[in-house]
Amino acid sequence: MASVSVRHLWKEYGSHVVIENLNLEILDHEFVTIVGASGCGKTTFLRMLLGMESPTRGEFLIDGKPLPSEPGADRGIVFQRYSLFPHLTVMQNLLLALEFAGAPFSARLFGKAKREALEKAKSLLDAVGLYESRDRYPAQLSGGMQQRLSIAQSVIREPRILLLDEPFGALDPGITADMHQLILKLWAEHRMTIFMITHDLKESFELGTRVLVFDKVRHDPQAPERFGATVTYNLPLKPVRDPAPSAP
Ligand SMILES: Nc1ncnc2c1ncn2[C@@H]1O[C@H](COP(=O)(O)OP(=O)(O)O)[C@@H](O)[C@H]1O
Ligand SMILES: [Mg+2]
Repeated sequence: MASVSVRHLWKEYGSHVVIENLNLEILDHEFVTIVGASGCGKTTFLRMLLGMESPTRGEFLIDGKPLPSEPGADRGIVFQRYSLFPHLTVMQNLLLALEFAGAPFSARLFGKAKREALEKAKSLLDAVGLYESRDRYPAQLSGGMQQRLSIAQSVIREPRILLLDEPFGALDPGITADMHQLILKLWAEHRMTIFMITHDLKESFELGTRVLVFDKVRHDPQAPERFGATVTYNLPLKPVRDPAPSAP
């Protein structure tokens, strides 16, 4: 369960206004897609939601409560570039994500916790189609497989909110349909609320229950950094309580 409210959110870097007065109400289990010109503050918005960056003014509420000021296991993020350790196998990369979540100081799980982690990792590797590749190293995987592993690394920690920053932007267009099926399946099975930035308008409408367009309302040609972007279009597309989209 994770609804997200954004109230009068502003982000400034010095005199550079990046986001101005952004307001939003997102329901539990929405799949929010975000589009907008390069440099208009989309990544900054996700980084604030993750807790990597703090708002200049305004606030985020998760289920009505103020957002914790630091990243936590309840929120996960996947960037366009892979976040894999090259010297660890597929399985080890996935287990490491769990070990950091479960035992942040020692990064080691033992006994029952370890067995449960292995079971969880196996079933998730199966879900993302990497079980057969579990003993390979990242360099032996295609770009699409590496990105599926990055997504698995975030999902295994069971975040209530999953943040995706152009996750398929670096991939061969031929495999995006498979990636879409995968992310819809994980979204349905794990009941996450998803925020996904994309530069592909078609993708934003296909995947989203709601599309947000980030843009500036005001422009000062003499001082482009004077005004920030906000949500200029907020388009609900699909009822959120819809049954899960059909998995392949
Ligand atoms: N840490 C930072 N310090 C100063 N300016 C930043 C910082 N992070 C982002 N910006 C600026 O904020 C603006 C929005 O960046 P970003 O959120 O990455 O845009 P987008 O993801 O929409 O392309 C850019 O002009 C960028 O240079
Ligand atoms: Mg960005």
